[in-house]
Parts: sequence; structure tokens; C-alpha cells
Amino acid sequence: MNDRTIMAKLNWFYSLELNQVDLYTAQAHALEDIYLAKTFARIAAIEQQHVDNLAEEIKKRGKEPTYLGDIISPLLGKTAGTISGLLGPKLMLKMDITLEEKAMHDYKNLILHVGNDRHLFDILWDNLLDEDLHTAWFANKLKEFAG
Ligand SMILES: [Fe+2]
Ligand SMILES: [Fe+2]
Repeated sequence: MNDRTIMAKLNWFYSLELNQVDLYTAQAHALEDIYLAKTFARIAAIEQQHVDNLAEEIKKRGKEPTYLGDIISPLLGKTAGTISGLLGPKLMLKMDITLEEKAMHDYKNLILHVGNDRHLFDILWDNLLDEDLHTAWFANKLKEFAG
């Protein structure tokens, strides 16, 4: 993967992570259950760390991070309002799992293509594992809404 392609990918992830900060913050506000609301606020803070570590990688390469707009709605085929919790926690968690799985899939893909950039390799792994932990928590919480 050449530098230009890696830069395009980094901006794509940067935008996705920004979208996730906004989404989970909106969901935290929409949720009435305090445990859910607090967890989503905490996850939003972790997504902000992803925004920051990707921005740093972009700047290290002499560029400014570029926000590409709404990445999530086209990915899920849903509007932001729908994803933000209007349908209740069960459907919200399901959509969030779909989104996290997409992010994980794409992080894994990029990890395979970063070559010998050890620092970027480690950052992508960190972000991937956070998304895996989010997915696991969402899936576990979803069980409480089953039946
Ligand atoms: Fe993230
Ligand atoms: Fe996540």
C-alpha cells in the first residue's frame, strides 16, 4: 500500500471515529438507563482517543486530518437519528455491533497492509482491540433484552 493510499485510509478512519464519538455521545443522552448512559459516555471517550491517535499519525506525515463527513449512515443504510436511539436500546445495540464489526474488519485489513511502520501497526491494533471490547460489551448487554 503506498503512502497516498495509507493517508486516504487514515482520513477515512479518522472520520469514522469522529462519527462514533458523536453517535455514542448522542446515544448516551438518549438512553434513560444510567448504566447504559454512563457506558456509552465512557465508550465515546475511548473513541475520542482513537480520533486523537489517528490525527497524530496523519500530522506525523505532514498533513492535516480531513473530515470526510457522515461515514456511518451510508454504511448502515440508516439515518443518524435512527441510529441515535429513537428505536430503543435493543435495536441501537444491534446497529452499534454492526458498526463496530465493520470498523474491526477494516482495521484488520489495514493492519495487514501497513508494512514496517511499527508505530502505526501498534495504534491500529490498540484501536481494533478497543472496538472488539465494545462489541463484546454490546453483545453481552443485548442478552438482557432478549426474549
Ligand atoms: Fe474507535
Ligand atoms: Fe468502538
